[in-house]
Amino acid sequence: MKKVLIVGASGATGKLLVQQLLQQDIKVVAIVRATSTFSQANDIQPNLDLIRANISDMSEDDLAICLEGCDAVLSCLGHKLTFKGMFGKPRLLVTNTIEKISRILESIDADKKVKIILMNTTGNSNRDIPEKPPLSQLFVISLLRLLLPPHVDNEEAADFLRLHVGQTHKCIEWVAVRPDGLTDEDNVSEYDIHPSPTRNPIFDAGSTSRINVANFMSNLVVNSDLWDTWKGKMPVIYNHA
Ligand SMILES: NC(=O)c1ccc[n+]([C@@H]2O[C@H](COP(=O)([O-])OP(=O)(O)OC[C@H]3O[C@@H](n4cnc5c(N)ncnc54)[C@H](OP(=O)(O)O)[C@@H]3O)[C@@H](O)[C@H]2O)c1
Repeated sequence: MKKVLIVGASGATGKLLVQQLLQQDIKVVAIVRATSTFSQANDIQPNLDLIRANISDMSEDDLAICLEGCDAVLSCLGHKLTFKGMFGKPRLLVTNTIEKISRILESIDADKKVKIILMNTTGNSNRDIPEKPPLSQLFVISLLRLLLPPHVDNEEAADFLRLHVGQTHKCIEWVAVRPDGLTDEDNVSEYDIHPSPTRNPIFDAGSTSRINVANFMSNLVVNSDLWDTWKGKMPVIYNHA
């Protein structure tokens, strides 16, 4: 049975991802803050191990125990859309978490390849391939970089995967999933995956339902062909129009 660790499991997408993973018969270790609204009903699911802790405060030793035997680590972390969430600490919540997890993975099992699957955003370009956003988009993104720390966090987390994990962490493979404007739907629907955005994420955003993001991320855990297609890349996901 596959085993995964998920951070940001209590978020709008994270909760759906936990359900998708459990439905695929995957053992899930989910780290959620003590204050989070993650439903108590989830505590009694047999393949779910709920760890009540703040990922930023966890020691590397405690996190290493959670990571033991994991085939993948999935992140749906994101900053709360409140003043404190956007401008308070930790400003690099996602980046610091991915760095910490990568450090631990590298130290605990050098032979086994572990997948890191990061929920990212179409607002972030993949600078490994020639993505050429229009000037208007580049202008707005530059402003977001100055004004919104969460945007910088999303960029730096993906940069860490591209520039460090891809080059130096031999036991880790990664995918950064880029949804466009997030929406909430009850059921998985048809969706399309592209190597790069096909729409302008600022001025002509498409929509991506969170449950489709969760479905794609969980499929990346179990489907080795899908993994081989997207590993080391930043696939963009849109609901099928
Ligand atoms: N909004 C969009 O249209 C859009 C589009 C593309 C991509 N994205 C990206 O998608 C990601 C997830 O989106 P979402 O809507 O599912 O997010 P969400 O519902 O806000 O969930 C965020 C998760 O991060 C956790 N978290 C927030 N601050 C934390 C902190 N200081 N310490 C520990 N955990 C913390 C939350 O825990 P608690 O439950 O305890 O608060 C929750 O589990 C974000 O990175 C966002 O940038 C968003």
